[in-house]
Amino acid sequence: LENGLARTPPMGWMSWQRFRCITDCNKFPDECISERLFRRHADLLASEGYADVGYEYVIIDDCWLEKARDNKTNKLVADRTRFPSGLNALADHVHNRGLKFGLYQDFGTHTCAGYPGVIDHMQLDAQTFADWDVDYVKLDGCNANVTDMTEGYPQFGRLLNATGRPMVYSCSWPAYLEDAYPDYESLIKHCNLWRNWDDIDDSLESVFQIMDYFAKNQDSIQPQAGPGHWNDPDMLILGNYGLSYDQSKLQMAVWAVLAAPLIMSNDLAKVEPRVKAILQNRDIIAVNQDPLGIQGHRLLVQEYIEVWRRPITPKNDDQEYSFAVAFVSRRTDGKPYGVTFSLKELLLTNSKGYSVQDLFEPKSNLGVYEADSQFSTRVVPNGVTFYKFTAL
Ligand code: GLA
Repeated sequence: LENGLARTPPMGWMSWQRFRCITDCNKFPDECISERLFRRHADLLASEGYADVGYEYVIIDDCWLEKARDNKTNKLVADRTRFPSGLNALADHVHNRGLKFGLYQDFGTHTCAGYPGVIDHMQLDAQTFADWDVDYVKLDGCNANVTDMTEGYPQFGRLLNATGRPMVYSCSWPAYLEDAYPDYESLIKHCNLWRNWDDIDDSLESVFQIMDYFAKNQDSIQPQAGPGHWNDPDMLILGNYGLSYDQSKLQMAVWAVLAAPLIMSNDLAKVEPRVKAILQNRDIIAVNQDPLGIQGHRLLVQEYIEVWRRPITPKNDDQEYSFAVAFVSRRTDGKPYGVTFSLKELLLTNSKGYSVQDLFEPKSNLGVYEADSQFSTRVVPNGVTFYKFTAL
């Protein structure tokens, strides 16, 4: 969507994966979907260094609404006990920290968790979002006819645009198509990002399932990404219960190659320092946010080592790209597994060769690799190594 927004993949934080639909604030005061949770996370994004490296959007996912609209105006109403100050006050809190404010809604009659959806009130709701100073809208697709989405997703986008307030528009439309081929032309025209597939859960298995879906369908998915319009493999789950340290690196590296939105869903007060360092790795974020906006893909698989590769800046004088290359191990046989590839096998064909940097080692310099050389790496089980090959 050419609305001037999301020129690089959006970065931020969203409640769903970690906090789901926890609504009992008496029992779970730190976890319930409430203004307190979002204020706390806006504060943590700013104070813990996340905002400094680019994480910007604070996004409320499902379960923020009253079960019914206002019976006089039909307007949406935020849950009165959990958001007692109202959404304008919350938006102000977020904006005062230099951050942006996002909100979830659903195209259908109800959200996935059963709160009122937009379908019969699209214009009113678009205007309400603008009035609440919303900067990012995630429009889900539960409880709707998939056939209505062809018209409905573009229409809601036009209504958002007509408010005059710039809002990133995230469309869950393709995730509801099952095996039908998404209308990418329409998605690129009307949405800034879209969920291609199923929800992420807090496990490596879930990360691998999403990677496999993206790899299997990469010939159709990969070309759709670019400045203003991104594929979305779903949230970053680093900092929660499901991923080990090495598995956390794995998700971060592959999401960088995929030009994925970097939307964390975790408790930012509880992320251990070494995982926080992965989330805040500036070199990897730079790969994710590369200005060319070319999505990468899975180049090859050999002995259960997958090579994921993305063209990035800088281009050299001959207009040859540099590349970010991730070696993902799906092996489980204990030891770090050594693999060697010729640069030709990695399709690194720049005649002058590349200077190589280990993206997980700050200030690393692995020297120059000539065009006819070999590259070796050792990858731990269910882990990753990740390098930048800068074209000379
Ligand atoms: C769907 C979406 C999730 C989340 C939930 C909320 O499952 O795909 O990302 O928004 O709904 O109910």
